[in-house]
Amino acid sequence: MTSPKFLALLGLLFAGTAMAVGAPKGDAAAGKAKFEATPQDGQACASCHLEAGTKSIDNNTPLLAGQYADYLEKSLKDYRSGARVNVLMNAQVGVDGTNKLTDADIANIAAYLALQPGTVHIYKQ
Ligand code: HEC
Repeated sequence: MTSPKFLALLGLLFAGTAMAVGAPKGDAAAGKAKFEATPQDGQACASCHLEAGTKSIDNNTPLLAGQYADYLEKSLKDYRSGARVNVLMNAQVGVDGTNKLTDADIANIAAYLALQPGTVHIYKQ
């Protein structure tokens, strides 16, 4: 039961868990500044995803506060590459090269949002 293979497998399992729940790697303060920048600065995230992503302007606009950082990063990179299609979001992250978010911007925004108290991944009865 406690063969080296089994222990190695167990180690991998825990390493995976630690990675999944680890602190986001981006710079949350820089992410906040980017998220709250005005449209004149290029980005306008907070004009649709309101109050640090805890609210939104309409029911088509998802709440972002407390969402997992890796999910946010993947979503933003997919909008940027065009792999995920939504005209509003594709334009926001620079799918056409205008005001393009860098990988660092995306990691920072993801860290900021993931650290906000939110209801996205808290289940209630
Ligand atoms: C004009 C309004 C608007 C602006 C500005 C905006 N968003 Fe969005 N955002 C949306 C809408 C609408 C969706 C849902 C799109 C879809 O269905 O794929 C969305 C989706 C997202 C998602 C995916 C969430 C999920 O649950 O899959 C992320 C992440 C996101 N926005 C982050 C941002 C960031 C970061 C910015 C600024 C760079 C930004 N948004 C600017 C309207 C907006």
